[in-house]
Amino acid sequence: MKTRFSAATALLSGALLAAALAVPAADTLAQSYAPEHPMARLKDEDPAARIKWWRGARFGMFIHWGLYSVPGRGEWVQWNEQIPVNEYAKLADQFKPDGLNFDSWTEVAKAAGMKYMVLTARHHDGFALFDDGANPFTSVNTAARRDLVADYVKAVRKAGLGVGLYYSPLDWRFPGYFFPDLQRESAEAMRAQYHRQVEKLMTSYGKIDVLWFDAGETDWLNFGAEWKDAGAVPKWAVRYNGHYKGGFSWQHDKLYPAIRRAQPQVLMNGRADMPEDFHTREGDGALGDFDNQQPWELATTMAGAWGYQADAQVKPLKHYIQLLAKVAGRDGNLLLNVGPRPDGRIDAPQVERLREIGAWLGKYGQSIYETRGGPFLPADYGASTHRGNTVYVHVLDWKKDKLALPPIPARVVRASVLGGGKAGFTQTAQGIELSVAPAARDDMDTVIALELDSPAAAIKPVPVSH
Ligand code: GLC
Repeated sequence: MKTRFSAATALLSGALLAAALAVPAADTLAQSYAPEHPMARLKDEDPAARIKWWRGARFGMFIHWGLYSVPGRGEWVQWNEQIPVNEYAKLADQFKPDGLNFDSWTEVAKAAGMKYMVLTARHHDGFALFDDGANPFTSVNTAARRDLVADYVKAVRKAGLGVGLYYSPLDWRFPGYFFPDLQRESAEAMRAQYHRQVEKLMTSYGKIDVLWFDAGETDWLNFGAEWKDAGAVPKWAVRYNGHYKGGFSWQHDKLYPAIRRAQPQVLMNGRADMPEDFHTREGDGALGDFDNQQPWELATTMAGAWGYQADAQVKPLKHYIQLLAKVAGRDGNLLLNVGPRPDGRIDAPQVERLREIGAWLGKYGQSIYETRGGPFLPADYGASTHRGNTVYVHVLDWKKDKLALPPIPARVVRASVLGGGKAGFTQTAQGIELSVAPAARDDMDTVIALELDSPAAAIKPVPVSH
């Protein structure tokens, strides 16, 4: 996948921007709620408070769905196949999800044990799933004749899940995206659309819990400037040769306060050069290291591309369970993507897998939800999470008969296998040794609950060597 800004750059720019931007005063924000409303007491500058539910949620559903679902070759089909804008736009005639009831999505998400959902309100092709008074390239103005975002938000809210929207400022229809300096007028029109649409999303559908940006970094501008392996199929590559130095600006200094004013509690990722509530890691390969400082989320697909891909194959259940344990053990969230068909149906093998994940969570969820990562740092053996006085050791790979863990400054009172079964333990000054009879082990994840005599959160994360 593409290289993005380094995390450090993103963090730094986020921090600098946060300092520079005029964030509405806390009392202005609080005033937008009735005094008895809990939000009235929350302050915008309290990011730790607004991210709390999300951290506890741990697991969400990402949905890539739009015109690209029609050809079924992923959401980059227009770019990959260099389909002219006018031709691509004709797909809107075929995008008619008449029978779609969004409850069918929320039912699957809940059955999977997911706690929030994020839908692509608009992707890079520019087709909006919501009403935009000024730009007719929307599901409201074309064959679908539906404000799909409105229906989605209603269903997700009703299901009691967190409501998330993905938005990409990038729009392949605007030459100004590719040549922000030469085609300044077009770039500015794209920016006007961006601000208008985001404000629309933030003000028209009630409370939005997550605003998930993609491709809004200044360095993505003009991305045609760098080509890798330019051949029959041009491949996009992020600019790696320094930053965008042109004169166009997304004017996030104007947009950010508007977002915060409309949605003081909305959680934003960092992909639009605005202050981020959480950081995005993308793809299984970006799992990365343990980080319990900066909230983060691994976004990845269940199968194949993000947008519907007819031949995508789901992976074995073990893959998803282990991924979830590895992510939670690194103190992150997992946003697992499905790409429904143009009519909104999620492919049956994916639905089946999601239900299996949910069944696993039904049994082992206490070792994932509302936990924090550690204190035993992830290594080949697996990972660990904790909640209250309990540490959950997720053994993903029994290298040996016993699992040797480093010492911790707390006494283990009891050890058991979650879901039933005995776990043996010995604790000495050298560390803790855990054992589970092979028959009681689980090939996907043997979750051993260690009950301590004191809160696990007080223990500093400790490296495990194997
Ligand atoms: C990448 C893909 C984009 C997708 C996003 C999700 O940026 O290019 O299509 O929406 O990942 O994280």
